[in-house]
Amino acid sequence: MRSIYFDHSGTTPVHPAVAEEMYRFLTGDNFGNPSSIHRYGLQIRKKLAEAREKVAQALGADAGEIVFTSGGTESDNMAIHGAAQANKNKGNHIITSAVEHHAVLNTVKALGKAGFDITILPVDQYGMVSVDDVAAAITDKTILITIMHANNEVGTIMPAAEIGRLARERKIIFHVDAVQSFGKIPVNVEDLGADLLSLSGHKIYGPKGVGVLYIRKGIRWRQSLFHGGAQERLRRAGTENIPGIMGLARAVELAVENRDNESARLMGLRDKVIRGLTGSIEDVILTGHPTRRLPNHTSFLFKYIEGESILLSLDMKGIAASTGSACTSRSLEPSHVLTAIGTPPEEAHGSLRITLGKDNTEEDVDYFLEVIKPIVEKLRDMSPLKD
Ligand SMILES: Cc1ncc(COP(=O)(O)O)c(C=O)c1O
Repeated sequence: MRSIYFDHSGTTPVHPAVAEEMYRFLTGDNFGNPSSIHRYGLQIRKKLAEAREKVAQALGADAGEIVFTSGGTESDNMAIHGAAQANKNKGNHIITSAVEHHAVLNTVKALGKAGFDITILPVDQYGMVSVDDVAAAITDKTILITIMHANNEVGTIMPAAEIGRLARERKIIFHVDAVQSFGKIPVNVEDLGADLLSLSGHKIYGPKGVGVLYIRKGIRWRQSLFHGGAQERLRRAGTENIPGIMGLARAVELAVENRDNESARLMGLRDKVIRGLTGSIEDVILTGHPTRRLPNHTSFLFKYIEGESILLSLDMKGIAASTGSACTSRSLEPSHVLTAIGTPPEEAHGSLRITLGKDNTEEDVDYFLEVIKPIVEKLRDMSPLKD
């Protein structure tokens, strides 16, 4: 049976060059602790500095502004808590959007419970936050705006640079979750006006459990959330995950090198999936923005049927896809993103996300389009919702 992976927004396979790089730091003499003074430590400290430089270059940042973390979730938590705690004498208002990843949304909500004043902005039918709404929400007490660069569930690219300009004018810290956009569209901290920016290794053919938090030099941000050693210039205590960081830095390098060609190729496949599904099956709606969306991302609502049933049937044909985000797919609650774009609950359960990646081909898409039609017809025939 064919085996096709169409869930690259969920996670990606580790690139062989990344695995090779990691292996070098799991074997031989490359086991040193970068905080040690002997040559084992010095050797790794040098490699860690090189990895930091590579990541900084890719983001248009300085190496001193890069902190390695345990992934996107930790970066988002650190960014938001760090900015909120360090600036609470200045104000207590935080702005975010209703379609953020839970790593952002739940962190902001937790601060709301702890006494911060929070604004969760609505989005339009494409999942886009409006710059005017952000401007209107700003008060004298606003200390942080946190808006994602691109949405994981519906692929919409947010007007992050415009929000960044606004934040800069009003001297408000701006955090961007760029976990989904990095490697697919340009991510530069100057162009985005980002003061804090999160990345994750496993969305870019790197390892799981490692990420990056960019912290602009000079912003008020609380020191490490963990109590412990002085690693990462006091910004993140704990011995660094060296194999993970080396793998991540290699993945970042590859992502930047391949981005333009690969994104153009994936956009062709993406549009073929969109045309193929909406053109040949009735009652299928594209969710997210039709054009301002990630080059590898498609997401749909299939009326009258459950996304889970489509997934299981696709799995039996060798195709791995997802409904909404991997993190919420075990919950029976309709996705907060689909709810925010105005999807009625009964329709939100019919979501399917096809996110393409480096090993996908035109033939994979042809095969998918061939098998999905009879699957949908069969499920609809059995559906009590369709009369
Ligand atoms: C937009 C976004 N932010 C944050 C995360 C969390 O990243 P990690 O899985 O590395 O914790 C994800 C993962 O799905 C994501 O899509």
